[in-house]
Amino acid sequence: MEKSLEQIQYQALEELEKASDVESIRALTTRYLGRKGELTKLLREISGLLPDERASFGKKANAAKRILDHAVNEALTRVQSAAAPTGEWIDVSLPGRHSGVGVLHPITQITQQICDIFQKMGFDIAEGPEVESDYYNFEALNIPKNHPARDMQDTFYVSENVVLRTHTSPVQIRTMERQSPPVRIIAPGKVFRCDSDLTHTPMFHQVEGLLVDENISFGDLKGMLTAFVHQMFDEGTSLRFRPSFFPFTEPSAEVDILCVICRGKGCRVCSQTGWLEVLGSGMVHPALFEKVGYDSERYTGFAFGMGVERIAMLKYGIDDIRKFFENDARFLMRF
Ligand code: DAH
Repeated sequence: MEKSLEQIQYQALEELEKASDVESIRALTTRYLGRKGELTKLLREISGLLPDERASFGKKANAAKRILDHAVNEALTRVQSAAAPTGEWIDVSLPGRHSGVGVLHPITQITQQICDIFQKMGFDIAEGPEVESDYYNFEALNIPKNHPARDMQDTFYVSENVVLRTHTSPVQIRTMERQSPPVRIIAPGKVFRCDSDLTHTPMFHQVEGLLVDENISFGDLKGMLTAFVHQMFDEGTSLRFRPSFFPFTEPSAEVDILCVICRGKGCRVCSQTGWLEVLGSGMVHPALFEKVGYDSERYTGFAFGMGVERIAMLKYGIDDIRKFFENDARFLMRF
């Protein structure tokens, strides 16, 4: 598979920003926008797409081309004005300075994309508090007192029975307490864990999903999550369901996609496995239904949870999560 449109655009903008002379800007223009350029090639592939994919892909590709054209001009202006002689003079032919237009933060954009996909499948948005009780964050989710998820190193405790929520899963319980089945919700929001490195920040974002009704099977889970991955990444993305464990689901599965970097061969990014984890999921554990008073003989359901930063990093090939929170406008404007 070729590099995606987003990756090409992201890479080109990054390189243009670094270019320090006219020659290298010209070379980048040829490489991305020239007759055999990466973006031009991608635009040609449009004829191989299904008719209803063509319009949306074409729109995106043309927008990318406009953004890159604009960035080339800006880069040229930048290196040319740096090379101009100093001294006091006014060039009355210069265009006026205009203040830039803001964009939505990439995490907001990805959250909206995730929510959009599930809203089209009939899910409603639900929310819960960021400061959460021990009961909703752990106990009601079948995570007993001595479970490692409660480790002091991971959880920010506000007091003995109050925590900063470590995941969006408590919204599952709060929603089920409020309404009877059928339930079909997604819950985006901030979560907190005492952890910080290249791929972890103390605050990050998750989107939780929950569907409960009569006759819901693991097949429904697989079908919906497969449809989600194909819309979020690429129609042709290979994915697998890998057996896993979460206290609040049984059976549980993690969903992996084929490594976007090495395409399954094994590399540093995927720890030589060829696969990248995108989300956790499973069939709702009957213990949760008991806690909220649902009849676990009559109803079944599935749940899932994913990290928004992680999805954004995979989608755009970003290797340092901290970039999202440094608020460097040059980084944020790329999305
Ligand atoms: N809450 C889990 C976490 O933060 C993610 C998760 C896994 C959510 C499985 C779910 C699920 O709803 O079924 O790691």
